[in-house]
Amino acid sequence: MYSGSNSTIRQPNYFDMTKSRILYHQSYKNMRFLDPLSPKQTHALNTLKADGCVILDSYIPEKKLQQMQSELQQALHNMQFNMPCLAQNKIDSIIHKDLINNYMLGTPQQLEECGVTFDQSQAIDYEQVLADFRPSTLTVPMLELSATYRETWTDPFILGIISAYLGMVPKLIEAYVRRNFPAQYRSMNHYWHRDINHDFHLLKMFVFLSDCTIETGPHEFIKGSHTNLDILNGQRYFQDEQVDKIYPLGHENRVLSTVKAGTVIIENTQGLHRATIPKTGYRDLGYGVFMPIPPLYRHKNYHFPKNAYNSLPTFQKAFIPKSFTD
Ligand SMILES: [Fe+2]
Repeated sequence: MYSGSNSTIRQPNYFDMTKSRILYHQSYKNMRFLDPLSPKQTHALNTLKADGCVILDSYIPEKKLQQMQSELQQALHNMQFNMPCLAQNKIDSIIHKDLINNYMLGTPQQLEECGVTFDQSQAIDYEQVLADFRPSTLTVPMLELSATYRETWTDPFILGIISAYLGMVPKLIEAYVRRNFPAQYRSMNHYWHRDINHDFHLLKMFVFLSDCTIETGPHEFIKGSHTNLDILNGQRYFQDEQVDKIYPLGHENRVLSTVKAGTVIIENTQGLHRATIPKTGYRDLGYGVFMPIPPLYRHKNYHFPKNAYNSLPTFQKAFIPKSFTD
């Protein structure tokens, strides 16, 4: 697990792998539930291994996508997004200078203490929230609310690729959907970085629920940087110039996710990446974070209804931490 201030990504050595085998014994054991990969899965897996990311263009069928879009819209209008939530209207460039310089880093509670959030008692309806608080991000726990989302986040085709890549059945440790709006201040994930959620075993899934154009804040990834650890490593965040110097704009290794709604990207985010801020409109993007967890993991990052969990096939079930279903 990530410890302290070490931001250097490295390949696991023999000792690390032995430790993983013991700590994540069950995740390795669960590989027996994985069916042999189809040729399509194998093709995607090979791309993921070589590039560090694979783009499954328009992966979600149109009808299902429309259902997901309308369910998200409904959840947002029902105010089922997480609060306290950062309000751009409450950020003062002088009073909150330290916060801005610290990439707006803080838990919702810490941000609340700084006075830059709004909560349920101040939120009347969706339009009022946008007008009064100008949130940059609304986060919705869609897996708790919708069978369609649970189905997508436990899609056996995708989970098969993920398990084969990691060589184990990890847990779906985070799952949510975000609506992102234009924002004045960049937060930490808008700077180039390598993810440190886990030292060695980590994949993320991005589910595009709206068309993503240059205007609506595409995600950017440096192809091959998941294995090329000799450059741009060891620093928590990089300045744009540091990355541009090696991978100038338009470089063939810079993968920009200008994709159609319904596209799914699987990515080893230990490679260099960043989010960009929408310039106009908004971007709806679903996130899944996959990594193994130790037996005594105590957090509960989302809720997966118990009856839905019980009806999952064994392989998919192995991805959901049981404690998330209580
Ligand atoms: Fe990241």
